[in-house]
Amino acid sequence: MERLADHRILITGAASGIARATTLRLLAEGAHVVAADITADRLAETRALAGKDGTAGRLALVEVDIADETSANAAVASAVKTLGGLDALVNAAAIMRGAHTHECSLEVWNRVIGVNLTGTFLMTRAALPALLDSDKGVVVNFSSTAAFYAHPFMAAYSASKGGIFSFTHSIAQEYSKQGLRAVNVVPGGISSNITDNIGELIPADTDWDLFLKLSPALPGGIPGPEKVAGVVAMLVSEDGSFISGSEIRVDGGAHQ
Ligand SMILES: NC(=O)c1ccc[n+]([C@@H]2O[C@H](COP(=O)([O-])OP(=O)(O)OC[C@H]3O[C@@H](n4cnc5c(N)ncnc54)[C@H](O)[C@@H]3O)[C@@H](O)[C@H]2O)c1
Repeated sequence: MERLADHRILITGAASGIARATTLRLLAEGAHVVAADITADRLAETRALAGKDGTAGRLALVEVDIADETSANAAVASAVKTLGGLDALVNAAAIMRGAHTHECSLEVWNRVIGVNLTGTFLMTRAALPALLDSDKGVVVNFSSTAAFYAHPFMAAYSASKGGIFSFTHSIAQEYSKQGLRAVNVVPGGISSNITDNIGELIPADTDWDLFLKLSPALPGGIPGPEKVAGVVAMLVSEDGSFISGSEIRVDGGAHQ
């Protein structure tokens, strides 16, 4: 099914994890995609995977540091030029740095907020004019269950994801009369670079008992990023065209 034929989509974080799987899914459904990330060599791996799927002809790559205003503006301008406009922006790039909160440096706090929250703002601000020119403009932002369900040792990350939740609701209301949609995706534990390396990202003396309530209720453990990719594909498609100013939680029933 070519549900996304003629859709022009810019996605950040596409060198890894959920956004890489989403890039491949969007391409498989017929979209034209610009995949953005700070890591050029792993972006090239995403293109190689698209090549195996036979979809690389509709994929372009752009390097970006979403936390840098000049870089974000340039990446969006390049994507809009390459695609001839823009129908969807998927803000998935993020970092996770954990700490005991009383030991969290201002540098770490500012970097996490700067990439996750300010980066989402910078990319969205730059993309809004082109999205408003589209008849199906949509912003899909990545919040997290960390914003709602008390994930320990990651206060900066949780706060950044709570900020993204609120930011998304603001723009959904602000631009709704112009037909723009804005939606939060709220994943729970999904296999990715962040999750697979969580032991290195939080303190060595972490109390792992505090994480037990975050486990999926459905069988099979932590799933692959494809579980989220299909949800994003739905949200940017006509099937998601009446969803705005709301959330879709993808956590295997961890938080019922
Ligand atoms: N994996 C999970 O369990 C989970 C749960 C909830 C939310 N999320 C969210 O899903 C999204 C995707 O994360 P993931 O789990 O696939 O992680 P990941 O680490 O596999 O991918 C994140 C990508 O973002 C890129 N990135 C980091 N800083 C950047 C910057 N300044 N500019 C541009 N790109 C940058 C990285 O290079 C990487 O390719 C994130 O927003 C994350 O917070 C993930």
